[in-house]
Amino acid sequence: MPRILLFLAIGLLARVSGLPNGAPPKTCSNLTPHHENTSPQTSYPPYQVLPAAGQGRVRLILGSPEGLAYQGFMILARDIDTGEFVGEFTNLPDSAKIVECTQGVKNAVTHTNKDKKQNLEFDWEAPVDYEGTIIFNSTFAQDYSTYWVGVESPRITVNKRSIDVLTSPTPVTTFRTTTPPYYGRTVNYVTQNEEDPFYTGCHITKNCFGAPADCIKTKDCAAVVAVIVQGEEYHFEMQARGEAKYVAVGLSDDEKMGDDSVVECTNEEGEIALHTSWNSGKRNTRHPTPEGAIELENSSIKNDVIYCKFRRDKRTIIQGRTYDLVNTPYHLLVVAGKDLRANGVDFHDIVYLGTSNSKKLADVGEWIPASDLLIRLHGALMLASWIGTASIGMLLARYYRQTWVNSQLCGKDHWFAWHRFFMVLTWSMTIAAFVIIFVELGTWSSATIHASVGLATTILCFIQPFMAAMRPHPGAPRRVLFNWAHWFVGNVATICALIALFFAVRLNKANLPQWVDYILTAYVVFYVLTHLILTFLGCVSDRQASQRVNSFPMKDMHSRGSMVHPDARRDAPHSGVRKFIFGVYFVVIVAFAAILIVITVLAPIEETWATFTNTISSY
Ligand code: HEM
Ligand SMILES: *[C@@H]1O[C@H](CO)[C@@H](O)[C@H](O)[C@H]1NC(C)=O
Ligand SMILES: *[C@@H]1O[C@H](CO)[C@@H](O)[C@H](O)[C@H]1NC(C)=O
Repeated sequence: MPRILLFLAIGLLARVSGLPNGAPPKTCSNLTPHHENTSPQTSYPPYQVLPAAGQGRVRLILGSPEGLAYQGFMILARDIDTGEFVGEFTNLPDSAKIVECTQGVKNAVTHTNKDKKQNLEFDWEAPVDYEGTIIFNSTFAQDYSTYWVGVESPRITVNKRSIDVLTSPTPVTTFRTTTPPYYGRTVNYVTQNEEDPFYTGCHITKNCFGAPADCIKTKDCAAVVAVIVQGEEYHFEMQARGEAKYVAVGLSDDEKMGDDSVVECTNEEGEIALHTSWNSGKRNTRHPTPEGAIELENSSIKNDVIYCKFRRDKRTIIQGRTYDLVNTPYHLLVVAGKDLRANGVDFHDIVYLGTSNSKKLADVGEWIPASDLLIRLHGALMLASWIGTASIGMLLARYYRQTWVNSQLCGKDHWFAWHRFFMVLTWSMTIAAFVIIFVELGTWSSATIHASVGLATTILCFIQPFMAAMRPHPGAPRRVLFNWAHWFVGNVATICALIALFFAVRLNKANLPQWVDYILTAYVVFYVLTHLILTFLGCVSDRQASQRVNSFPMKDMHSRGSMVHPDARRDAPHSGVRKFIFGVYFVVIVAFAAILIVITVLAPIEETWATFTNTISSY
C-alpha cells in the first residue's frame, strides 16, 4: 500500500470509494486508522489537545509538549455520559477539514495533507441549549505506522453557552507507561461563566467609570461606579472588590480631589451604610445627609465585593453649593480603601481615579480616565537620573581620576568630562521631573515622606552645579572646603533620592508593585559592593604607586609623550581591573534603570502583563 494513502486520509478515501457522507462511520466510532500491518502505540502519547474556554466555544490547540510534529490526526467531541457526538467544529486552518460522522453535522476534524503539522488551532462550538460534560477524543499519527489512538483532552463542562475547562487529570483509557507530560505552553483559561451583572449595559444604558483604566471592558474593576438615569430619577451604583471597607463616588468640577460632593458606601462590621461627605482640599469630612435627598436603595456584601445602589435628587444643596445633575456637567471621582476612620473613611489605598472629561450624567457614553502620563514621566525621569546617570557620574569622580589619563576629551581629563556630562544629565532630568510633578499636582500637594524627601533631593541637586561653578582653583586654600561640600551635598542628595524611591513604591498613584522594593534593595547592595571593591583597590593601588615611583623612576619615561610631568600622566596601577569593573558597573546600572523605568511606565505592570498574556492565549 503506497504511503501516500496515509492514515486517516478520509476525504480521499471517501472520494475514492465514493462515500459522499465523509469518513466511514467506523473511523468515527473507534478513531483507529486502517493502516495495514500496524497497530497503535501503547506508550504515553507525545501529543496533547489543549482547550481554552471562550464564549460558547472552545479553542483547541493540537500540539506536542516535546514539540513533535504530526502528519495525521482526527478529533471529535463526545458527551461523556451518553457517548453522543456534541457540537460542531469551525474556523479550521487549511491543513484541516470537517468529517461528518453524522450526515450534515460537522462533528469531527481531520487533516487534508500529510505535511508535518504543529500547534494547529481551531474552534469547537457548543450547541445553544446543551448542558453536560464533554471530552475531545483524538488520534495523532506521527507517520504511517506510528500513531496514538484515544488521546483525550481535559473534561469540559458546558452549561448552555457558558463553558468551563476542568483541569482535573485526564482519565487514562489507553495503557500508558509514563507519567503525563506537562504541556509547555501556558494557557490562561478565561472563564466567563460568572459574568458580573454590574457591567451589563455599561456605555449603553448607563454611564460606568472604574479603575484601573480599561476595566469596564474586562469587567474586573477594583472599584467601579455606574450612573443610571431613568426619566428624572438619578440612580448610582458602586462596587469594589478586594478588602475594600468602602467605595465612594465624588462629583467634582475637575479631575482632582478638592471641593467634591462625595457619597460613601461603607462596610461597618458587615453592615452596609451610606454616608455623605465633602472634600476640602485633600481632607474629607462627613456631613449629615440631606433628608430624603440621597437614599440607599440596595446593597450587598458578596465574596468580598461590596455593592451599593442609591438614588440622588436631581437638585441638592451641599455645603452651600447647588448640585444640578440635569444641567451641570460633572467629573466623577471613584475611590476605594481598606480602612474606615472613627467618623469617616481612611486613605484611598485601593483606588483613586478621576475622569478627565466632565459631562452631564444623563449623556451615556464612555468616561475617559484622567491621564497619569505625567506621573509616569516623573517616575521614569527620576529613575533615569538617580539610578542611572547619577550613580555612574559619581563613581567616575570618585575612583577614576587616575584612569584613562593619557588622553583628554575637549581639553579635560576623561573622568572630569564624563562626570560633568552625567551630572548635567542628572540635574536636567531631576529638575524636569520636579516641574512635571508640579504641573500634574497643581500645588504642593501633601506632606508625604516621598514629597518631602523628594523635595530635599531636588534642592540639593539644584545647587550642586552652582557650587561647582564657583569652585576655587585646585590648590587654593578654600578648595578643600569646596571638595568637602560638593562631596557631602552629592551624597546626601543620593541618600534622599533612594529614600524617595522606596517611598514612591508606597504611593498608590504610582501603581508600583511592592516587589520593586527587592529590585531597589538589590541595587543598593550592588552599589555598596562596587564602592567597597573600588575603595579597596584604590588603597592597594596607592601603596604600589608610591613603591613604584621609588624603585623604578626611569620607567615613567616611556609614557606616551606628554608635556605634563610623566608620572601624573600614567594610569594608577590596576587600571585594567578598574576599567573592567566600570564596564560591568555601567551595564548593570543601565539594566537596573531600564527595568525600573519599564515597570514605572507600564504600571500597573502585573495587570499590563496579565492583559498581555490573556490576549495572546485567548482569541
Ligand atoms: C529620587 C527619585 C524621586 C524624587 C526626588 C521625587 C520627588 C518628588 C517630589 C518632590 C514630589 C512632591 C510633589 C508634591 O507633593 O507636590 C513627588 C511626588 C510624587 N512622586 Fe516622586 N520623586 C522621585 C521618584 C518617583 C518615582 C520613581 C515615582 C513613581 C512613579 C514617583 C511618583 C510620584 C507621585 C505619584 C507623586 C505625587 C504624590 C502625591 O500625590 O502626593 N516619584 N516626587
Ligand atoms: C477515546 O477513544 C478511544 C479509542 O476509540 C476509546 O477507547 C476511549 O474510550 C475514548 N474515550 C472516551 C472518553 O470516549
Ligand atoms: C436588590 O438587589 C437584588 C439582587 O441584585 C435584586 O434581586 C432586588 O430586586 C434589588 N432590590 C431593589 C429594590 O432594587
